[in-house]
This record gives sequence, C-alpha cells and structure tokens, in this order.
Amino acid sequence: MTALRVIVSFIYFGWAIHAQQSLIAFNQSAGGLLLADSSTAPIVLVGDDEWTGVQRAAGDLSQDVGRVTGVNSTVITYNSSFNAQSSSPVIIAGTVGKSSLIQSLIQSGKINVDQIRGQWESYQIQLVSNPLDGISSALVIAGADKRGSIYGIYDISEQLGVSPWYWWADVPATPQQSVYVQNITKLQPSPSVKYRGFFLNDEQPALTNWLNTRYPAGKYGPGFNHYFYSTVFELLLRLRANYMWPAQWASMFYVDDPLNPATADEYGIVMGTSHTEPMARNTNEQSNFLNGTWGWSVNRANVTEFMRQGAERAKPYETLYTMGMRGLGDTASPTLNASTLEQIVSVQQSLLREVYNTTNSSIVPQMWCLYKEVGGYFADGLNVPEDITLLWSDDNWADMQRLPLANETHRSGGAGIYYHADYVGDPRDYKWIDTISLQKYWSELQQAYDRQARQIWILNVGDLKPLELPISYFFASAYNTPSLSSPNSTQTWLSQWVARQFGTQVADATASILLNYSVLAGRRKYELVDPTTYSIINYNEANSVLEQWQDLVNAANAIYSQLDASLQPSYFELVLHKCLAGFTIYAIHINAAKNNLYSEQGRTSTNTLAQTVMNYFAQDHALTQQYHALLNGKWNHMMDQTHLGYQYWQQPMRNAMPAVSMVQQREIALSGQLGVTCDGNNGTVPGDDMYHSLSSNVLTLPPMDPYGPSRWIDVFSRGTDAVNFNVSSEPHIIVSPSNGILQAMGNYTDMRLTVSIDWANAPNGSTISLINITTTTPTGVYDNGTYPYGSFGKPQIQVPVNKTSAPASFHGFVESDRTISIEPEHFSSNASNSSAAYYEVIAAYGRTLSGVTLQPFTAPSQSANSSSSPKFTYNFYTFTPNVTNANLTLYAGTAMNTDPSRPLKYAVSIDSAAPQVVQPNPLTHLWPLPAMWGGMVANAAMTNTTTHSITKAGQHTLNLWLLEPGLVVQKLVLDLGGVRPSYLGPPESTIV
Ligand SMILES: *[C@@H]1O[C@H](CO)[C@@H](O)[C@H](O)[C@H]1NC(C)=O
Ligand SMILES: *[C@@H]1O[C@H](CO)[C@@H](O)[C@H](O)[C@H]1NC(C)=O
Repeated sequence: MTALRVIVSFIYFGWAIHAQQSLIAFNQSAGGLLLADSSTAPIVLVGDDEWTGVQRAAGDLSQDVGRVTGVNSTVITYNSSFNAQSSSPVIIAGTVGKSSLIQSLIQSGKINVDQIRGQWESYQIQLVSNPLDGISSALVIAGADKRGSIYGIYDISEQLGVSPWYWWADVPATPQQSVYVQNITKLQPSPSVKYRGFFLNDEQPALTNWLNTRYPAGKYGPGFNHYFYSTVFELLLRLRANYMWPAQWASMFYVDDPLNPATADEYGIVMGTSHTEPMARNTNEQSNFLNGTWGWSVNRANVTEFMRQGAERAKPYETLYTMGMRGLGDTASPTLNASTLEQIVSVQQSLLREVYNTTNSSIVPQMWCLYKEVGGYFADGLNVPEDITLLWSDDNWADMQRLPLANETHRSGGAGIYYHADYVGDPRDYKWIDTISLQKYWSELQQAYDRQARQIWILNVGDLKPLELPISYFFASAYNTPSLSSPNSTQTWLSQWVARQFGTQVADATASILLNYSVLAGRRKYELVDPTTYSIINYNEANSVLEQWQDLVNAANAIYSQLDASLQPSYFELVLHKCLAGFTIYAIHINAAKNNLYSEQGRTSTNTLAQTVMNYFAQDHALTQQYHALLNGKWNHMMDQTHLGYQYWQQPMRNAMPAVSMVQQREIALSGQLGVTCDGNNGTVPGDDMYHSLSSNVLTLPPMDPYGPSRWIDVFSRGTDAVNFNVSSEPHIIVSPSNGILQAMGNYTDMRLTVSIDWANAPNGSTISLINITTTTPTGVYDNGTYPYGSFGKPQIQVPVNKTSAPASFHGFVESDRTISIEPEHFSSNASNSSAAYYEVIAAYGRTLSGVTLQPFTAPSQSANSSSSPKFTYNFYTFTPNVTNANLTLYAGTAMNTDPSRPLKYAVSIDSAAPQVVQPNPLTHLWPLPAMWGGMVANAAMTNTTTHSITKAGQHTLNLWLLEPGLVVQKLVLDLGGVRPSYLGPPESTIV
C-alpha cells in the first residue's frame, strides 16, 4: 500500500519534483558555467521596458551575489542600443510579454517559453549559448509574468545561499569561492495556491515598539511607512508569497504613508485589508474619515461613498478586495443580518464596476471572510455572489471550521483559508513566541488544499517575529502543497529549511530540536500554563516535562556553542531563544507548583524553591534583554510581549510571577524535624494535613507490579537541625538510598528515595508491605526523642505489591495500576489495505508521541461494520477481574467539523462487543462555537470517554476505527479503576 502511494505521487507530482532542481553548484564537478567567484561577478541584464519590480529584484540579486562571493554584481539596463562588451558571465532576467529583451530571445529561438506562457507566476531558468551578440552564454530567467520573473530571480538568490530571512532573522550566506550554473532547464509551474499572504495583526507591543525605534511616527499613528513595508514586501516575495493584509491596530496603510500602496504594487505585492475592513479601507479610517457612524442602516449614503473612495484609491494598484461588513473594529455588528449583508455586497460590487468602468466586477479579485459571526450568517443562508472567494476561517486556534462542500467547489471565485499563528481573544491570547505544531499545520493545510480551498491562504502572524518557522512552512506549503503531502515530509522539509539557514552539518539535529520543541510548546499555549497544569505527584509528570525541556535546551545549546559566531545571532533567534524561553516558563510554573505544595508540607526547601522561581523569573527577563541586545539592539522591543500573570483572556499589563510561599525556617514543625511523603500523595507524615486521614501516620504508594514504574518517597527537613533517617522494610522491598542525613539549610534538605521490588523474591499475588522511616536524631522541640513521634506516631509508607504476569505468548499492552495507556502508533494490527482509505502515522503530532489519522483527506466515510474500512487493533492484557465500567478515553487532536454533513467520528469496541460510535465535536451553527470548544483548544486535545465491560481478566483486543478524515488520534487510555489526575494522561503502558 505504501509503495503504491509513493508511485502514484511520483507520477502525479513528477513536474513538482523536477521543479525542486538546483541549478547552482559551488564546485565544477557537476560541470557548467562559472557564474561568479571572488574576483568576478556576473552582470545582471534587465530590459528598460521591464516591470520596475523585476528591475528592483534584479538589484537584490546583484547584492545577493556579493553576499556570497564578496563581489556585487552590476545591474545593466538593456535597451535597443545595448552593446555587450563585458567578458563577465551574464544573467538575463525578464518577463515574457513585457521585456523586449526576452522577446528577442524568443524570436531568435534561443529560448522556448511555450510551457510557461500565460501560467500564473511560473518561470523557467536555463543556460543559453550566444544569447546576444558578444555574449557567449547567459543564465536566462524568464518569468511568465511579473512575479514569475521575481520568483525566478529569488530562486537563484536562494540557491546561492541567501536566505529569505537574511535581514528579518539575520541569516548570513555561506561564503563561496566560486559559483557554477549547471546546464539544466528548470521549469517552475504555477503555485498551488493563487494568493498567499500574511496579516500583521495585534502588532502591539512588540512590532510597534520596535518600529517606533526605527521609523518616525506617521501623521496618524506609528511609522508603518513604505520604508518599513519594503522590508516586509521583499521578505514575502523571497518566501514566494504575493499578498498581504497590513497592520491596522493603530495604523492606516493607505493614509499613514501615501507611498505605501504604490510601493506594494511596484514590489509585486497584492494588497488586501483584513477580514473586518471592506473595500480597501482600514478600521481607523472608519473612525477618522467617515462622515457619521459605521452603520449601514443609519448611515448608508456616507458608508457607500466611503467605500467608493476606497476602491478609487486602490484602483491603480493590484488589489484583492475584502467584501462584506462587520461592526467597528473587529466586532460583530448588532444591526447587520444576512439580508442587509447581501445588499451591502451588491452595492460593493456595483461600486467596483463603476470605479473600474466595467460591466463585469469579476475582473477584480474579491473575497469575503467568514470570520466569527459572519460564518453564522452564511450558515443562515447568506448568499455570496460566486465570483467572490469564500475565505473560510479557522477557529483562531488553527482548526479550520469549515471547508468547501462538494457543491461549493465549482464557484468561480473559489475558496480560501484564513489561518492563525498568533491570536488575541478568548479563551486566551497567544502572542508571545512560537507555539505552532507544523504537523498540526500539515493536517489542516493539506486538508484545505485537498478540499479545494486553493484561491487564497492568509496567515495571521502577529508581530511577524518570532514566527519565522511557521511563516516559512505556511508559504512552502502554499507554494507547492503536493510536495508536502506526506506527514513524513515535515521533518525532511525542516532539515532542508535548517540547512538553508545554518548548513547541512546541523540540519538533522536542529530539525529534531524544532520538531520536539513543537510538541513541548504545543501541549498548551504558554499563556495558559500555570502551576496547576502538570501534576507534581502523579506519573512524575511535571518532572518529566521539565526534563524534556532541559534536554531540548541542552541539545540546542550544544549546537549553538559550536556554530561559527556569524551564525549565532540567527540561531538564537530561530532556534535557541524559543527553547530557552519555553524552558524558563515551565521552570517558573513547575517550581512554583512545588513551592506551593512544599509549603503545605512544611518543607524547609520551600524557601529555596521560592528563590528558584524568582531566579527563573529574572532569567525570563534576561532572555528578553539578550534578544533585545542582539546585533547592537537591532531587535530591541521585539520581545516586549508580556506572557506571565494572565488573569483572563487578555494580556497582563505587566509580567507577574506566580505566587510563591515561604515557611518559617526558624521554627521546627510541630510534627518534628523529619517529614515524609510519597508518589501519588500530597500529604505528609507524621502530622496532620488535609490530604490524609486525621492522626494517621501512614501514606500509601500507588500499587506496584512487574509492568509498572518504580515509585518514590521524599524525606525532607522540616526543622532547624540536621536530621538522619533510616528506612526498613521487608527484604523484597528495595528502597534506595535507605539512610541519610538531611540538612536544615542548603542543597541537602530533601532526598528522593526510589522504591523498587525484587520480583524474584516477592510473594505471588497481592500483598501489602510497610516501609518504616525512623530517625535517631532528637526530632522535637523537647529534644528527648520521644516527641513528636510520641504524639504523632512513626511515619510509614504502605506499598501494595501485585506480583502478576502475562503469559509469554501474549504480545501487547499489559495492565498496571488498573490502567492501560496506549500511543496509537503502537497498534497490534493495521487492517488498512486500500489506497481509497488507509491509516497514516503523523510523527510528533500532538502532546506526547504521534497521531494516527485516516487518509486521504478525500476518503469517503468509513463504517465500523464494514470489513473494508481500515481498523487498528490493540492487544492488551488485564489482571483486574470483572470491570463492568472500564472507561476508555480517546485523546484526539483539536479539530472542527469542516463538513457539517460528515461530522468527525470514530468507533471503538473491545473484543467482539458492538462498536460504539463517538462524535467528539458536536454539530453547531458555524458561529457561535460549541460549548466544549474553549476547553478543547486550551488543552490542545479533544477527549471523549466510552464505557466498556471487561468481565474477565486476561487477553483482550481494543478495536479502533476512524470514520472520517480530519480526526487525528493521539492517545488511548483504558481506566480499570486506577487512572490518576494529570494533564497528559498516564504514560504509555509496558508493551511485551
Ligand atoms: C554591495 O552593495 C551594497 C549596497 O550598495 C553595499 O552595501 C555592499 O557593501 C556591497 N557589497 C560589496 C561586497 O561590495
Ligand atoms: C547545454 O546543453 C545543450 C544540449 O545538451 C548544448 O547544446 C548547449 O551548448 C549547452 N549549453 C551550454 C551553455 O553549455
């Protein structure tokens, strides 16, 4: 099956593979023409009748050559009196149908452009012998249109080693001695998605504060002027994007700097305005320049004139109009409804016909974004003219709410998507640093493409930095979607992306770091993490999570420290900073969580932990400063975003550390110098607390069996003096270390003891053993050794031990602690034998290991009752008899029902019981969102529980069917009565 699919995609995407070709080489072994070396730079020849934007890009290419070899090229403008004298190598760039230079090459038969002619944004690049008199050979870049030529030029720049991020993320080019061009013709077809852009949004505080240090304020707001936008437009073009919604929080693109729209047009960027700003006018124009209020029913004539002026003003420039209307400033209008909106759009289209002096408004591209409440009008039956692109929105959290249905795919305006990498709104903002899972993007973007949303893809990128990676991936996917059709492509793409910024030597390791980062950061937005998120008593969860962050930081630091100094600022911006920043946030919250519990437990180390939290809080600031100080302050203020101390959805006005607590270190606990707690417990013995029964001196460990983990006991100081301890139990209970001394200050106040079992010598079946922890240090205020034990009793830990074994013939998951936890990629069998519907593993998807999903995205609905539907089975072995209410919880990736007639569904059964079908996300109107939505996006997972009867202990099989594409399963937990509270769920069970 897999082989079949590879062959199919190879044939289908043959041209795309060809298009990945590299023409540039840095040694002669591949043959070809010497293009540049440390003494020679090619001349770049462009026609005088060429698009200004192509001439401008040729200028970039000439400097890109200098960035690589140290010698800039010269751009020479070709005209009819051109006379080649140069013996230098030559690059010719131009546009078919525009440049007479290219036209002459076509006419003389030197190039044949039949395969690209008329193809949107396509181009070809080839070596040509004797293109013009006096030039023996030239590298010719011929674009089918203006952006085709520009992309062709930037293709060569990128192959030379100049990153699209050379300025915006300071990626230096690798110096080269010589540059050769191979004699291959590269044909680049049209991009997969026609309009590909981003939206600078909620660009305050970071981008705006940074901007204020570099550009003078405009008449009405911050300096979002054409000098600033030029750097953005160039970035977009180098990333092969072509479309943009400008910043609008406190700025007005067309008004702040009248050169803004002309600059965009010259560069080749199609301007739009956001979903809430119709007819090429910004929100703040509505409040500054509109006569009367922004309301259709109350101010129709003025609003119409206001919109007409927008079209008049944008007419000279390539513009994609936002249609429709919302309330003022990204809000729902209280007075609009589906029928007034239809009326408004009809007026808007007639304004376009009038302004463009045409009877056919379809000549101007238009879109209507079905964002938030607008989607609700659509679901109510709002009629959208078919030449307007329907721009479907995600739920602001990267889950597409809806995609074209079969009867919507043939609309002439097509469909597109509005997608988020940054967001301000409920349940909480996420606008600090990158939290994007590229694998999540993979599943949504590929699906959007397969479901025919191919006209517009636009990404909300907040302040632009530090979202370089998701931006790069989004545009790579939009440019050539089929080339990334397999989930395995993500890691390969990442390696290639890293290689282009930092070289191949660190590519694979850094790609793994970035993929791991996306799992750790994707578990929950930083803004929603708090000290209660991860369990500090169950499954060793918080410690494991923090260790994973520490490992990530170590790996990133190891690469960073061996990199050439010239690469370090960029590596810091693109890789290291987010690892360090994420680790620091987790270290703050997890240490605060421990501090809070330890203070209840009276631990002396409480105070050290309070200091640890304060240290990490200081480190958070130091990291911000380090970012701001980079490259002499180039990015000062870019990390101004607050991210600690959230109280509700909106950002806190000032970073605030989570609360920490202190114990009175000058006094001994009433219950003595020594405290004891254990795995799975908040309580402490000896003494009283709200977590264990009054006057009891006993805590109980989670049960131990041969398939479960070891357990731990914490012994700690609660007093003013050093205290010794000694552990004793039955011979098969191994506690390590079994004695020691705890100090009343410094680093040795607490000790974690590991409890394991000598299974060979343990009694069969279920037994309970006791662990005694004693001290010979006088432990009480009366100093005679009888207090406090005299009044509180000696601390004891009870260990339930269950010596069990699954038969040697069994293969699968084995119960431990009345729990079976499954990572879905570890299936026992995969009955998936048709290319029409099959299962695929998505590595690094979701919160733990990976996801599994039904492919292709266009697969028909499946049925648990059909033997031709793919099915995963999981063998498991239980010891607990007669569980009539075993709860099976399935964790899926967040997802919405993009086709209301085919809501997401899965089915599960155990053994031969009838399958239970579950729809995780209820069907609702497009807006408002279902009630479970807030919890789903906050937890970065949907969970659903079904109840099963497992009356007999022994071997069983769990059957899983994914009934619709778009649902990704990331964990399965069967609770036989032992599952404990945690964020990520129990770690995976032992597989034998
Ligand atoms: C290339 O040109 C740019 C812009 O004029 C200039 O800043 C840079 O120093 C030049 N590079 C070389 C190597 O001459
Ligand atoms: C490129 O290859 C073609 C055919 O293989 C050959 O005719 C042509 O001369 C070559 N061009 C250059 C510049 O080497």
